[in-house]
Amino acid sequence: MKELSEYVYQRKSVRRYSETKLTEEELEKVKGYISQLKPLIPEIKTSFEIVPCKDTNCGFNAEYCLLAYGEPSNLWLTNIGYMLEQLDLYLVSLGIGACWFGMGKVEERVKDGLEFAIMMSFGKYDGETRKSADDFSRDDADDFWSGMSDAKLGEIVRLAPSAVNSQPWRVEQIDNKLAVYRQKGKIPILSANLYKHFNKIDMGIFLCYLDIALENEGYAFTRVLGTESDEGKRVLVATYEINKQ
Ligand SMILES: Cc1cc2nc3c(=O)[nH]c(=O)nc-3n(C[C@H](O)[C@H](O)[C@H](O)COP(=O)(O)O)c2cc1C
Repeated sequence: MKELSEYVYQRKSVRRYSETKLTEEELEKVKGYISQLKPLIPEIKTSFEIVPCKDTNCGFNAEYCLLAYGEPSNLWLTNIGYMLEQLDLYLVSLGIGACWFGMGKVEERVKDGLEFAIMMSFGKYDGETRKSADDFSRDDADDFWSGMSDAKLGEIVRLAPSAVNSQPWRVEQIDNKLAVYRQKGKIPILSANLYKHFNKIDMGIFLCYLDIALENEGYAFTRVLGTESDEGKRVLVATYEINKQ
């Protein structure tokens, strides 16, 4: 996933699209990429469907929406976040804009035994990409990562997107061990249930960024996954052991 690192600095949510359509070739590339997204947990079944955006409740004028479904089990939403963030970054490389759309609703919530998780709009747009980390509104890495041994990792992971920019991640580092937590909180504009749902997806996005950062900075790592449970104020999502190569 190292190859996605350059797009981390360019990506942004695109909510206004142009009339220009994707070419057949671009659409094929997107479909091909979706079919080889790297799962966090390969055992969890997922399926992704591309539909015209106008056929969904997504208010953006995008050409398409991707509907993401998964098998409800521990970390299934985190798994979806991890996978679709790869697509979000890949679309930047094609000059295609995208936006996670958490408020998306579908008529058939369960399809072939898989539950609807979230949608993502995508299509051509006229604007520019971001140019550097200065163009992002994010917490400093030190605000959520204690004991950080390598500031380069923080520079990348702090740019991860999250629902209403809530940035629910916390990292505690002791020597070469990282504990990654989801910090529960409240966002006044969202119901507690929606917030929980989104933040689990956010954590998958964060793990995607963390893996990109580790690979990019030349670390080998082992990861042990935790839980998506709703118990407690801080939920341990994963632990990592990292070693610079
Ligand atoms: C899980 C998730 C759900 C989101 N849902 C919405 C949404 O319903 N509507 C919207 O306009 N943006 C949505 N966003 C986009 C975020 O608001 C956006 O990523 C965040 O504010 C950071 O801005 P950036 O993506 O431009 O860096 C969502 C993002 C995530 C990760």
